[in-house]
Amino acid sequence: MFITFEGIEGCGKSTQAGLLIKFLRERGKEAVLTREPGGSRLGLDLRRILLSMENQDLSEEAELFLYLADRAQHVHSLIIPSLMAGKVVISDRFTDSTIAYQGYGRGIDTGFLDQLNNMAVKGILPDLTILLDLPAEIGLKRAQSRNTQKNLTVSEGRFESESLEFHQKIRQGYLDWAARNKYRFLIVDATGNIDTIFRSITGRMEDFLAKSFEKKH
Ligand code: TYD
Repeated sequence: MFITFEGIEGCGKSTQAGLLIKFLRERGKEAVLTREPGGSRLGLDLRRILLSMENQDLSEEAELFLYLADRAQHVHSLIIPSLMAGKVVISDRFTDSTIAYQGYGRGIDTGFLDQLNNMAVKGILPDLTILLDLPAEIGLKRAQSRNTQKNLTVSEGRFESESLEFHQKIRQGYLDWAARNKYRFLIVDATGNIDTIFRSITGRMEDFLAKSFEKKH
């Protein structure tokens, strides 16, 4: 089973992904938590390049290919081997981030990005994608205060420094893309508190776990 978390900055993906991995492990599942960019050894170098304020002059094309290189290596070195070993894989961001940010955000054709994504992931698609949805104003405020608190403004602030309008486009893009791929998307209102959000996710997970159990027996 392959589950991905998506959403704009400050939507709480990392918190919810952390809770979900604990929930699955408590139910006896072997589960791996990973993220993009940065889910492989090579990816850690790419993450530093991609998020640093030093690289505000990165071209849109260079940005795109670096995300795709990160994804290709991540799928090859971690996601496929883990799925083959029967583990549940949870990734904090995956292909839909490229559609939302480079597609709806930067304006690159989403059909073309879909093809590039397919090449990078060797046919691996998420079984479930959890989209944490909230207004861009709220998400950005949360992300900026987190970066200031953790002193990450320079090393990881490249996207948080983009305009509110850019983040609004990304939010709308995610919703549009989710509507077109309904079969694998679960949209959760991320303005609520951590427990309420997590309960909506686990409600859906119970169905999923029941189905994966039925398949095996
Ligand atoms: P990260 O610190 O992981 O952000 P968050 O805490 O919001 O998940 O940084 C990842 C950034 O990279 C985020 O701003 C979104 C962006 N991104 C893309 O633009 N395209 C992509 O394909 C991916 C995976 C991420």
